[in-house]
Amino acid sequence: MRQTRVVDDAREVACRSRRGVPITARVPTLPLSDHEEAQRPESLAFDAAHGVETASFAAWHTYEPSPPSVVEAVLDALMDRIEGASIDAADCTFIDIGCGKGRVLLIASQRGFSRVLGVDPANKLCRAAEQNVRTWSARHPDATRIDVWCEDASRLTWPKGPLLLYLYNPFHEAVMDRMVRSLPRDRPVWLAYVNPLFAEPLRRHGFALIEEATEVDHYAWKLFRR
Ligand SMILES: C[S@@+](CC[C@H](N)C(=O)[O-])C[C@H]1O[C@@H](n2cnc3c(N)ncnc32)[C@H](O)[C@@H]1O
Repeated sequence: MRQTRVVDDAREVACRSRRGVPITARVPTLPLSDHEEAQRPESLAFDAAHGVETASFAAWHTYEPSPPSVVEAVLDALMDRIEGASIDAADCTFIDIGCGKGRVLLIASQRGFSRVLGVDPANKLCRAAEQNVRTWSARHPDATRIDVWCEDASRLTWPKGPLLLYLYNPFHEAVMDRMVRSLPRDRPVWLAYVNPLFAEPLRRHGFALIEEATEVDHYAWKLFRR
């Protein structure tokens, strides 16, 4: 049987040669798409600057990190909106729905929220996120506390207080619908949706579109409020 270990841009496959000798072959992974290629320098620079590992995603079908500049732009928009609604960031919980290796959590921990939470059902991604959080917290003792929950976001018990949700296209419409239906109606919820392919459930469940940025194709985002 073949055993596969994924390294950054190639898989190392343990197999046998034609003569039956055990060997390790390096098999290139699929080439990056245009948007992946374009965000890669920024992605690698973020990891190098902070001593974390959030950039590689060759091993994952579902994980792909948001470019740091997109996260900062979305956070700026969220901060403006809560300020405009006279809500203090220190009362809000920021949640990355589908946090992957936790890059968005790290960046959000610098914005003065009461709490930063990442949710992802993939156990290995959660472990990677926790490792990154440990590294980050050691380097940034003033950062907001970050928790990682290894769960399906459509089955959560939501934290108290105003919620700020960040989604980089984590799932398809049926899961989106279930998650949106589960959100609390007794307090403000802002939802930033990057690459917003399945926004219809938001409209169905009473969210209003309040801002959008469409200039960068794959990383277009929309901000909703209920
Ligand atoms: C495109 S990645 C985004 C990663 C991260 N949010 C970022 O922007 O850097 C989508 C993530 O959603 C996660 N995901 C898939 N289904 C999910 C679910 N039901 N609940 C929570 N997260 C989910 C995947 O495991 C993956 O890590």
